[in-house]
Amino acid sequence: MIWDSALISKYDLSGPRYTSYPTAPQFDASISKIALIDKMLMPSEADLSLYFHVPFCAHLCYYCACNKIVTKQYDKGIEYVELLGEEMRLRSLMLDDSRKVTQLHFGGGTPTFLTEDLIKVLFDSVKQYFNLVNDGSQDYSIEIDPREINYSKLELLTEMGINRISVGVQDFDHKVQKAIHRVQPYSMVESLVEDARKLGIKSINFDLIYGLPYQSIEGFKETLKQVVSLSPERISLFNYAHLPDRFRAQRRISDDSLPLSSMKLDLLKMSIEYLLAAGYEYIGMDHFAKPNDELAIAQKQGELQRNFQGYTTHAGTDLIAFGVSAISELNGVYIQNYTDLPTYRSSIEKGQLAIAKGYISDCDDRIRHHVIMTLISQFQLNMTLVEQKFSIDFDKYFSQEIDSLTPMLQDGMLEFDRSGMQTTIKITGRGRLLIRCICMVFDKHLNSTVKFSKVI
Ligand SMILES: C[S@@+](CC[C@H](N)C(=O)[O-])C[C@H]1O[C@@H](n2cnc3c(N)ncnc32)[C@H](O)[C@@H]1O
Ligand code: SF4
Repeated sequence: MIWDSALISKYDLSGPRYTSYPTAPQFDASISKIALIDKMLMPSEADLSLYFHVPFCAHLCYYCACNKIVTKQYDKGIEYVELLGEEMRLRSLMLDDSRKVTQLHFGGGTPTFLTEDLIKVLFDSVKQYFNLVNDGSQDYSIEIDPREINYSKLELLTEMGINRISVGVQDFDHKVQKAIHRVQPYSMVESLVEDARKLGIKSINFDLIYGLPYQSIEGFKETLKQVVSLSPERISLFNYAHLPDRFRAQRRISDDSLPLSSMKLDLLKMSIEYLLAAGYEYIGMDHFAKPNDELAIAQKQGELQRNFQGYTTHAGTDLIAFGVSAISELNGVYIQNYTDLPTYRSSIEKGQLAIAKGYISDCDDRIRHHVIMTLISQFQLNMTLVEQKFSIDFDKYFSQEIDSLTPMLQDGMLEFDRSGMQTTIKITGRGRLLIRCICMVFDKHLNSTVKFSKVI
C-alpha cells in the first residue's frame, strides 16, 4: 500500500462501507413482507451463518454509533433471550434444519451482558433449532467488552463452541479513555487475552478507533505498541464517525477535544506504517491481519468475501440474523428487523417475524454486488469472468462507469491489465486506501442525501 497525501485529499469523500450492496439506506419499509418471506422459503442447501444482536450495554461509551440500550438492569436479558428463542423457532420453520452453521456471531451492544445462565439458555435454543458444528472447523465469534467478562463466562462460551473473540479496545491512553467514558486499563485486556489463549480461542481481533478526543501521535503509537505486544491475529482500525446529530451521546464529546482532520490523517498514516512494520497485512477497509490468518490467506487465494460481519472466508452462506436491528442476507435478498425493542417485541409476541424493511436484488444489483464486493475484498476484478458469469459485455454494460474511472486511472489508483486473454481491473498500492471511492463508481443507488462516514 502506498500513502499518497495529495490523492487522499483529492478523494476525501463520504461513502458507504459496502458490507452489503445495495447498502442499508436502500432497504424499503413498504416492500411486501409476503414477497420477502416467499424468498426466504426458497429451498437452499447453502451453509448458514447466524447473527444474534444483543443490544444491552451496562455503560455508555460517548463515541458509540452502535444500536444499543444502556441499562444496568441485567434481568432485561431474560425476556430478550426468550424473544430470540421465539424468533429462532419462527425462522427455523422456513429452513431445512440439517443445514450446517459454519459461522455464528454475537454482536451488540454487549453480548456478554447476558448472565451465564442466560447464555446457556440461548445456546440451548440455538442448538434446538439449528445444526451447530463443534469440530474446530466452525467460526463462532463474540464481541467482548473487557469490562463485561470474566474467566468463567469466557470458559462457558468456549464450551458452547465460541472460538473467536473480538475485543473492544479503542485506545489504551487513560486521558482518551476518560474522554470517551470507557476506562479499561491495559492489564484488563492483557488478562482477557491470557484467558482466551488458555481456553484455546483460535483468533482474537482488537477494535481500535483513530480520531478520538485527545489522541496524539505519540499516545496512539503507545497504544499500538501495547496492542502488538498482545499479538491479536486481527486488528480493526476504525475511523471515528462523529455524527452528534444522529448519536446523542457523542454530544458529550466537545469539538475542541477532537483531532483536526490533518491530525486524523497523520494518525492513520502512522498506524498503517506501524502495523505493517509489526508484520500485519492490510486486508482492506479498516482491517489488518497476520499473514497466516485465514483472512490474509483467503485474500491471497482470491476467496475473501464481505458481508455484514465485515470480511469473511465463508463464501456462499445464507446469513440469518436475530434480534433488534439485525439484518439477514439470503442470495441477494436483505431483511432488516425493527431497530427498537418495543416494536421488535410486539411482533415476535404476536408470532410474527419482526421485519421492518427489506430489499430484493434485481439482476443489475447482483452484477454490481459481485463487482463491488470483489473489488473491495480482492483489490482486483477479472472483467472477463464477470462477462462469463453474467452473460454481459463488460465494456458496454459499464461504459459510463469505465468513463468515470478515467480520472482514477490517470491518478494511478487502478490499472486495466489486458495482457493475455483476460482483462482485469487491478487496484494499485495508491488506490487501496481509497477503494470505497472506486466501488462508489459502480453503485447505481448512491444517493447524495444520505450521510455516510468519510472514506478515510
Ligand atoms: C458493536 S461495537 C462493540 C462491541 C462491544 N460493545 C464493545 O464495545 O466492546 C463494535 C465496534 O464499533 C466501533 N465503533 C463504535 N462506534 C463507533 C464510531 N462512532 N466510529 C467508529 N467506530 C465505532 C468500536 O470500535 C466498537 O468496538
Ligand atoms: S461501544 Fe460497545 S459497550 Fe460501548 S456503548 Fe457501544 S456497544 Fe456499548
